[in-house]
Amino acid sequence: MLKVTDLKRHFKSGDSIVAAVDGVSLKIPDGQFVSIIGQSGSGKTSLLSLLGALDKPTSGSIEVDNQDITRVSGRELNRYRAKTVGFVFQSYNLVPNLTALENVMLPMEFLGLPKKLRLERARQLLEEVGLSADQMHRKPGKLSGGQQQRVAIARALANKPKYILADEPTGNLDSETGKLIFNLLHDLSKKEKTTIITVTHDLKIAGKTDTSFKLKDGKLAKGTDR
Ligand SMILES: Nc1ncnc2c1ncn2[C@@H]1O[C@H](COP(=O)(O)OP(=O)(O)OP(=O)(O)O)[C@@H](O)[C@H]1O
Ligand SMILES: [Mg+2]
Repeated sequence: MLKVTDLKRHFKSGDSIVAAVDGVSLKIPDGQFVSIIGQSGSGKTSLLSLLGALDKPTSGSIEVDNQDITRVSGRELNRYRAKTVGFVFQSYNLVPNLTALENVMLPMEFLGLPKKLRLERARQLLEEVGLSADQMHRKPGKLSGGQQQRVAIARALANKPKYILADEPTGNLDSETGKLIFNLLHDLSKKEKTTIITVTHDLKIAGKTDTSFKLKDGKLAKGTDR
């Protein structure tokens, strides 16, 4: 269970303050497929960054299985970022000079697995997301956008995270490929019992998730938690 309580992230901008996240409270049971919607500037990326511990809140708490991750630091925080959450970005963010396989193996170095096991698991994950053996040995520049996003999803799954945090994962894809990527995320959330929290502009997609939260000016809009 993920429990967010009165979370705030305020940025100083000159003399004024931007309340990017402004008192968000929500609960997400394990294994759910959740979407976050809202207009540009409503605080979606800011909220996701806090959930992934890429950023610290101004106030409030984020409890993961009763541990407040806003209060952990050092090695424990690195562990949370590497092991508990996996990220998927709109722009894939793959390492360009590594092959798809090597990209997926990379986060597993944190676990200290022997190379042979890392290779085996990376191959299995890439198969699971639908890449061919030939495609696995290509660098990102030689793959389509949809294929690169599949690699990014496999990489996010590498350390068997509890949460996958995805920021507009279909934003750079055509609608047909976007649908395939969303179906893939959906299937994975059910199969691997991973909680998926995804930001999307696509209301059709949001309508298919277990729960949809709508942000407006850093606050949750009423009636979005179905
Ligand atoms: N590092 C920062 N410093 C100052 N202001 C910021 C910073 N990051 C975000 N903001 C502001 O916080 C607000 C929320 O931004 P955020 O990126 O979370 O929106 P978003 O909902 O993800 O928008 P989009 O749909 O365009 O990606 C915006 O007004 C933005 O300008
Ligand atoms: Mg954003």
